Amino acid sequence: MRITDIIAAKRDGLDIADQDISKIVLDYAAGDVPDYQMSAFLMACYIRGLSFAEVSAMTRAMIDSGGMLDLSGVSGVKVDKHSTGGVGDKTTLIVVPMLAVCGLKVPKMSGRGLGFTGGTLDKLESIPGFNTAIDPQAFAGQVEDIGAAIAGQSREIVPADKKIYALRDVTATVESIPLIAASIMSKKIACASDVVLLDVKVGSGAFARDIVQARELANTMIAIGANLGKTVGAVVTDMNQPLGCAVGNAIEVAEAIDALKGGGPDDLRRLCVELCAVMLVIAGRCESVSDSRSLAVSCLDSGEALRKFVEIVAAQGGDAGVVEDALLLPQARSRCDVTSLESGFVSEIACARIGAAASLLGAGRRYKEDAVDSAVGIIVKKKLGDRVEKGEVLAQLHVNDESNVSEASNMVSDAYRIGREVAISPLIHEIIRP
Ligand code: URA
Repeated sequence: MRITDIIAAKRDGLDIADQDISKIVLDYAAGDVPDYQMSAFLMACYIRGLSFAEVSAMTRAMIDSGGMLDLSGVSGVKVDKHSTGGVGDKTTLIVVPMLAVCGLKVPKMSGRGLGFTGGTLDKLESIPGFNTAIDPQAFAGQVEDIGAAIAGQSREIVPADKKIYALRDVTATVESIPLIAASIMSKKIACASDVVLLDVKVGSGAFARDIVQARELANTMIAIGANLGKTVGAVVTDMNQPLGCAVGNAIEVAEAIDALKGGGPDDLRRLCVELCAVMLVIAGRCESVSDSRSLAVSCLDSGEALRKFVEIVAAQGGDAGVVEDALLLPQARSRCDVTSLESGFVSEIACARIGAAASLLGAGRRYKEDAVDSAVGIIVKKKLGDRVEKGEVLAQLHVNDESNVSEASNMVSDAYRIGREVAISPLIHEIIRP
């Protein structure tokens, strides 16, 4: 089929053959299909959806656009935890060392923040000296030697996704379950781990806004993985409020260090324990989640996960002194409180708006070329269900550039609903085993 015929077929809701999906994806990656044709195709996919055969073909084509990560020199079971993206989600910084302490190998390729969601690489780069750009050989070597490495995806891995994701970002085609599933799973499969655990976020700060969408996304990704011989499980978790309290980069690292010391906000600790526990079961290390939960808790409380984090930071050139002295992390010049206009209970938080406000302060980026300010962000002081009095602080902005403070304050203030009725969703909605 010609490219225009493929676009027209999808526009008309017809099924596209594997070789035609492969053609449009690979030709676009090679620069032989212009952005305007790919944009039309993506919009047709967004509106018409993709059958499971089509999503699988798209995933395979994206993988075929580049190479696979070579982990042949890494012994043992290689695992990967991936979040579909949220606000204040710093679990990777905590769960990766926990899993390594439990004897699993964790080659973690992470991304940067875009839009309202944060990214692990931006957070780690707030640690002075931390290098996220290690080459694939050094990456694999570090995983073999100390059990874990966290780095940016190499340019050779799934180049089609990089190009397509950037185009989706500017053509309003990000929030499509099949396109998200193909994008995530192509990267997970090319990164060659044996077991993948997906943290599928649902709620006002996630791509999946309700449980039906989240379940569909999780099941599609699990089925793609199974089709391609991978063990994939999923935990559907709540993103109707930021995870923990810190939303930014350095301030999230500081909060993650608190959690690694056995403290930190309760929801953050609970989610990290659950993700570690579920991974230990699906990777065959433990029989049941109740056994693996106590192992996960002991990783945190014994200080072993913290020591592994220090090893990872040091191996990647970072200043591990940040663990003892959080002031070694970048600090914002000033603080600005956002206070409540009324008394009551926090009944709703428009979580994406908190992420967008942090991004506006400089913690995130609007375009992928933008630089981030590691020091700035938001500390959420009131969470869902908390009692609040008029004039009490809801959140504190950490600020370097005063020019966006008033807009960011308004966004945070608008994000909060203060009322009487409080219906709080569970943190863990469901666990979907492979
Ligand atoms: N994360 C990805 O890697 N891809 C998407 O499409 C959405 C979130």
